[in-house]
Amino acid sequence: MASVESQVGPAANATPIPLWLLAEVTYRCPLQCAYCSNPIAFARYRNELETDEWLSVLDQARAMGAVQLGISGGEPLLRKDLETIVKHARELGFYSNLLTSGVGLDETRLGELKRAGLDHIQISFQADSSGPSDEIAGGHHFSTKERMAQAIKAHDYPMVFNVVMHRRNLDRVDSILQLAWDLGADYVELANTQYHGWAYHNRAALMPTREQIRRAEAITQHWREKVGNRMQIYFVGSDYYDETAKPCMNGWGTTFLGIAPDGRAMPCHGAAELPIELPSVREERLQAIWEDSHAFNVFRGHDWQPEPCRSCELLHSCHGGCRCQALLLAGDAWATDPVCPKSPLHERVVREVEAADERKNEFPLVMRTVKNSRSLS
Ligand code: FES
Repeated sequence: MASVESQVGPAANATPIPLWLLAEVTYRCPLQCAYCSNPIAFARYRNELETDEWLSVLDQARAMGAVQLGISGGEPLLRKDLETIVKHARELGFYSNLLTSGVGLDETRLGELKRAGLDHIQISFQADSSGPSDEIAGGHHFSTKERMAQAIKAHDYPMVFNVVMHRRNLDRVDSILQLAWDLGADYVELANTQYHGWAYHNRAALMPTREQIRRAEAITQHWREKVGNRMQIYFVGSDYYDETAKPCMNGWGTTFLGIAPDGRAMPCHGAAELPIELPSVREERLQAIWEDSHAFNVFRGHDWQPEPCRSCELLHSCHGGCRCQALLLAGDAWATDPVCPKSPLHERVVREVEAADERKNEFPLVMRTVKNSRSLS
C-alpha cells in the first residue's frame, strides 16, 4: 500500500481515504486455529449482515474512494452469497482478494468466483504436512488445502500462500517453502504471529525462540536467492521481536476500514477488543462513520499521543505503534506500544521473549472453538 503520510490526521488538509476495505463477512469457521486474530468473543457475532447490507457497504466505500477489497472471516466461503458480493465488487471496480482456508472450496465454486470477477486468492496453510497442520488448526484439512491450492492455480488465479509462523512450525520453514513452490504459489507470506486475539491467549505455546526466527530467516533468504521473482517470499516479523513499533494500519483512520460480520465498523482488525464504541453500518452512513465517529477519530493524527512518542523522531513513521497491543501489554490503549524500546514498559516484552528462549516445556493450545469463546468471554 502506498504511503499516505500526507493524509494522516484531521489536522491534515486532505481528507484521508479508506483505500483498503476489509469485509469480515462471517466469524464462522471450520478451522479452530489457536493463533486466530478474531476476537475471543467471536461466538457472540450471530447477527451477520444480509446480502443487501454488504452490497450497500461496497457501494458506499467505493464512492468514498476505496479500491481494494479483502473478503475474510472466519471462513468467507461459508457465506452462500459470496459470489454475489464478489460480482458487485467487480462491477464497482474494486480489486478483490479472497482470504480463505480453502476448506469449503471446490472446482464449481472456483469457477463461479472466477466468473463473478474475483481477482486474487490468499490460501492459508498451517504447515507442510498433515500432522503439524492438524494440531494447530484442530482438524484434518491439509489434503483439502493441497487440492484447493492446485485448483486455484488451475483456474489461473494469482495465489498467495500464507502461513502464520510460530514456535511449532518455524523449524519446518524449508519444507513449507518447498510445498509452496510445488503448488505454484506466486507469493508466499510467512507471517510471524502477532499476539492478539487467540494468539495472545496462546502466547506461551506459540512464542518461538530468537534462534528459531534467525534460522528461519536465513533459510528464507536462501530460498529467495534460489527462486528469485518466480515466487516472491515475504517474511513478516513479529512485533515482539522487532526493534521498533510498527505503523499499525498505516496510521489510525488513514487507510483501513474494516467491517465486522455484524456491521460494526473497525479502524483496525482488533478494534472490537478496545474500550471504544464501534459505530454500525446498520445505523449510520459509512462516510459519517469514517469522518465523524469517535471510533475513527480517537487515535487519528498525533494529538492523542503521550511521551515519549510526541518528541520522538519516528512519530510520523510509527504512529505510536499498535493500540490493541498497548491495551494488551500496558492495560492502556493510549500508552506507547510497549514493543517500542523507548516505552517505559518495554521490559515486559523483553521478559516475554527471554521466557520463550528459556522455555523447555510445551504448553497446550487453547483452540478457537465456540465453547472456548463462550467460556473466555
Ligand atoms: Fe488495533 Fe493494531 S491491531 S491498532
